[in-house]
Amino acid sequence: MSSAHPRVFVTRRLPGDALDRLSQHAEVDLWPDDLPPPYEELVARTAGADGLICMLTDRIDAALITGAPKLRVISQMAVGYDNIDVGAAMARGIPVGNTPGVLTDATADLTFALILAVARRVVEAERFLRDGRWQTWDPNGLLGLELNGATLGIVGYGKIGQAVARRAVGFGINVVYANRSPVTSDIGEQVEFDELLRMSDIVTLHVPLMPQTQRLIGTRELQAMKATALLINTARGGIVDQAAVVQALHEGWIAGAGLDVAMVEPIPADDALLSAPNCLLLPHIGSATTTTRARMANMAVDNCIAGLNGEPLPNQARPS
Ligand code: DGY
Repeated sequence: MSSAHPRVFVTRRLPGDALDRLSQHAEVDLWPDDLPPPYEELVARTAGADGLICMLTDRIDAALITGAPKLRVISQMAVGYDNIDVGAAMARGIPVGNTPGVLTDATADLTFALILAVARRVVEAERFLRDGRWQTWDPNGLLGLELNGATLGIVGYGKIGQAVARRAVGFGINVVYANRSPVTSDIGEQVEFDELLRMSDIVTLHVPLMPQTQRLIGTRELQAMKATALLINTARGGIVDQAAVVQALHEGWIAGAGLDVAMVEPIPADDALLSAPNCLLLPHIGSATTTTRARMANMAVDNCIAGLNGEPLPNQARPS
């Protein structure tokens, strides 16, 4: 690759053939480790770059952007981009790309995996068996929530929320949803947020993390939910007040939670969430299928190449 090519810093090895495609257009400076670059490395390696392909684990703040005078595009391999100061990038005329759409089904599938697992106590039941506690078929043992006829409250009725609703139909679940703007849908009914909390057997979150959604689910909201209700979060950890969820689970304000995301990731070993009852935790794997991750990587590369060429990005993030 000649030095006339623009230089792109890529903060992690990308799945599929995306890096090969990128290297046809740019000199690729690839962070080789499995763990993300420390912030100082991120700043230093981006400083001389024309393009940046980053992950949700990278803090792309105003200082980093200011310290990269040649930077022409920031391309995030994720739909969410709360780790990026989009306003600061736009002030410098740097477009920010993201990867909406391609991860909708994978994330909706994982949401349902959590709903099923928490409702039917799958992990607890497996532990029960492996611990040698299975002595008989028990008419009262490990009873869970019947999904047929249950009400699912979907908070945020964008692409992923609607994909979750489509799956719910197959289970005979009634859908209600809350959204900041009106959405017409042939599935379910739009209701006020507070009404959704009161009526739902399962509340699932599908809003982006932004100032208006920070700790959207806190003490007041958890106390408004049914004592038998379940909380599912495959969006961003910051949407829930985690300390309030821990208290809610200990004190029985709600019956269980399934969380693929946390306020601090990875969850620290001494975090109270790890010992909260009826709490199923996953390591942020909503989009983790081979097909979806390859598509996300390709989209991130497409956005990056467009930005390097001074063309509109196929998918451009907006400031929240
Ligand atoms: C996203 O894309 O924002 C998910 O959290 C990871 O795929």
